[in-house]
Amino acid sequence: MTLKEIRSEYHIQLDDIYDFNEVESFFYMLIEQYFQLPKYSIALEPDKVISGPDQTIMLEALEELKSQKPIQYILGNTEFFGLHFKLNKDVLIPRPETEELVTWVLEECQGMNLKILDVGTGSGCIAIVLAKNLPEAQISGLDISRRAIGLATENASINDVGVRFFQTDILLSETLSEEIMDKEFDIIVSNPPYVLNSEKKEMRLNVLDNEPHSALFVDDDRALLFYNGIIEFAKKALKVNGSLYFEINEKFGQEICNLLKENKYSDIQLKQDIYGKDRMIRAIKS
Ligand SMILES: C[S@@+](CC[C@H](N)C(=O)[O-])C[C@H]1O[C@@H](n2cnc3c(N)ncnc32)[C@H](O)[C@@H]1O
Repeated sequence: MTLKEIRSEYHIQLDDIYDFNEVESFFYMLIEQYFQLPKYSIALEPDKVISGPDQTIMLEALEELKSQKPIQYILGNTEFFGLHFKLNKDVLIPRPETEELVTWVLEECQGMNLKILDVGTGSGCIAIVLAKNLPEAQISGLDISRRAIGLATENASINDVGVRFFQTDILLSETLSEEIMDKEFDIIVSNPPYVLNSEKKEMRLNVLDNEPHSALFVDDDRALLFYNGIIEFAKKALKVNGSLYFEINEKFGQEICNLLKENKYSDIQLKQDIYGKDRMIRAIKS
């Protein structure tokens, strides 16, 4: 098949599922990654023949897109905060709202030799961007998933930063290694699982069928499970005057602020994302 024919096949099969421009962009991302062909090659060489295994890989990607597999998982990578991250089904695709959380941490992060912990690190995106932008800081990340920790470690190496990763369950603080507990962090940041099980029905199939549920969901009757767990952990592991940054479910902004108040945090700030949704909280430990 020629490039032009493959693009046309993408539109025939995908335009009912995705926006026209989205299909264009999938096609260009794939030819760039698989054949290092820039976007303008469709104008320069529309009749370039893509055959054999090259054609197969493009048609396989088309099938995966038809089943609504996210393009980031098909490509096996994504960009976050201008950095390149490997991805697979063991980790969540980093979201734009998490870039906003990281921006907030970076704006407020002053001083050298800060010790920072990212709880529920997944692909390592938060920890690695912080490490890249704060070369003097000591950054650690933890996750319950061994596979996520493996991928985060690879991503740190791809991005040429030193981050210490730990495979551990934040909710079982008695099992946390002394290496973590003894650190006394200046900052703990977390984008924990916060989508309610009851919200599954409002979610797109491509998320439900592809992304790890343990990274996303909590039971409705334990919506604040991870916030409680991290606040408990922070009693020992966060310095006085240290900061806690959370990404949150927009439904629970006020409740999480109250929880922080009850736990003697001050300067509690609830912040909206670019869509005006309550999405992030920062608080200082008194
Ligand atoms: C919403 S994802 C965030 C991933 C990444 N930090 C990001 O922002 O894209 C939540 C992460 O928390 C991890 N997680 C779930 N339960 C955990 C637990 N009990 N202890 C530590 N990490 C946990 C999941 O494996 C997942 O990687």
